[in-house]
Amino acid sequence: MKTDHAPSSVCALTVSAPRAGLSGHVNVPGDKSISHRSLMFSALARGTTHIVGLLEGEDVLRTADAMRALGADITRSETSGVWIVVGHGLDGLREPADVLDMGNSGTAARLLSGILASHGFTSVMTGDASLRGRPMKRVMDPLAATGATFLARQGGRLPLAIAGNANPPPLSYRLPVASAQVKSAVLLAGLNAVGETRVEEPVATRDHTENMLRHFGASVQVAPLDAGGCVITLQGRPDLVARDIVVPGDPSSAAFVLVAALLVPGSQVSVRGVGLNPLRTGLFISLREMGANLVISNERVEGGEPVGDITATVGALHGVDVSATRAPSMIDEYPILAVAAAHATGQSRFRGLEELRVKESDRLAATVALLEVNGVRVEVVGDDMIVHGTGGAIPGGGLVRTHMDHRLAMSAIIMGLAAQKPVSVDDTAFIDTSFPGFTTLMNSIGAGLGA
Ligand code: S3P
Repeated sequence: MKTDHAPSSVCALTVSAPRAGLSGHVNVPGDKSISHRSLMFSALARGTTHIVGLLEGEDVLRTADAMRALGADITRSETSGVWIVVGHGLDGLREPADVLDMGNSGTAARLLSGILASHGFTSVMTGDASLRGRPMKRVMDPLAATGATFLARQGGRLPLAIAGNANPPPLSYRLPVASAQVKSAVLLAGLNAVGETRVEEPVATRDHTENMLRHFGASVQVAPLDAGGCVITLQGRPDLVARDIVVPGDPSSAAFVLVAALLVPGSQVSVRGVGLNPLRTGLFISLREMGANLVISNERVEGGEPVGDITATVGALHGVDVSATRAPSMIDEYPILAVAAAHATGQSRFRGLEELRVKESDRLAATVALLEVNGVRVEVVGDDMIVHGTGGAIPGGGLVRTHMDHRLAMSAIIMGLAAQKPVSVDDTAFIDTSFPGFTTLMNSIGAGLGA
């Protein structure tokens, strides 16, 4: 089932340093993690949910299509841009008539697996070449205890058929990897189970599932574990009731704009309304440790999530040592942090990056290649990345291969804005999965992309 919002054609770009600094005040699109969840959970609730600020990127549009195929009524108001979801309750989903195509989105595929495993019908999921290469065993393993049957390609890859069980037992699972997607899949399977579902995580990961399920009326408790990390418990069969949602700006998207402002001479840029959930802000902490001039103002709570405006002003950066325990709070930000580290003075070490190998691309290898091809020395020691900063404008001049990975493409573009020689990017089409309007937004602050 191919829909009309897949990146259709390759879109190469060569990026040069702009003549003047970047400046302006911008808003970035809605948070991707929260947007997926808002469509899925409102489809499981009874009644009508209005979603303000939904990310209209291709990944999230896939989730909207999937939830429609499963029986939710999802529309978008053309006048206000508000999304309206009419859910029919936990028992309200029906068997989809066709294969569910999750495009490039691991979050959509993993979270939906938890929902599908605990409903009494059969469904099949697929995705693009990148997603079909990513591991699904990490959700199939814990979800097998629901009594659902899974049939995947070798190595636990999509396409994946799931024959769900409408009366699953509650699961108890300790995460072997720090993954909010796996945690969420288990919790979502627990919605349809009688009794208490329990997930232990050795290191806390983003808690948008927990927050939003509570918002819809579920009982979700989080308690610290003596050995570190925490345990999350969910009472099954909650009465989920529709409630409106405001989606904050995505900190993972703001990251690209803010790092550009930190690196391009003469720049100062503010991004308004950025989500500041403490389990997402590791990049901003790390950049500040590098000496970055990042000022957070107007802090407030919107739709249950902390939000603020962030202003970045260009300035000298120095190397940083980022611990493995911080990785979950900035797991999507390492490519752009590596670009900042390449520009900094001295050596940076990012520890415990094993999860980067299974993102939209092997992001560890792709980030190393991004730096090396642009004249920056970088090493991988075990699961750590060591970047030898050039102490100023990056040499540049390379052709970056993005491997269907939106964050690689945006990192390469920001690198080009701060490099001595133009940087070429093989394909920018996948940027639309998470940051539609990226080029236009960057040009509104003076980037001159495609000029
Ligand atoms: C996400 C969790 C992270 C992150 C992804 C979004 C989520 O993945 O990389 O972009 O919304 O739960 P993992 O759970 O694989 O770490």
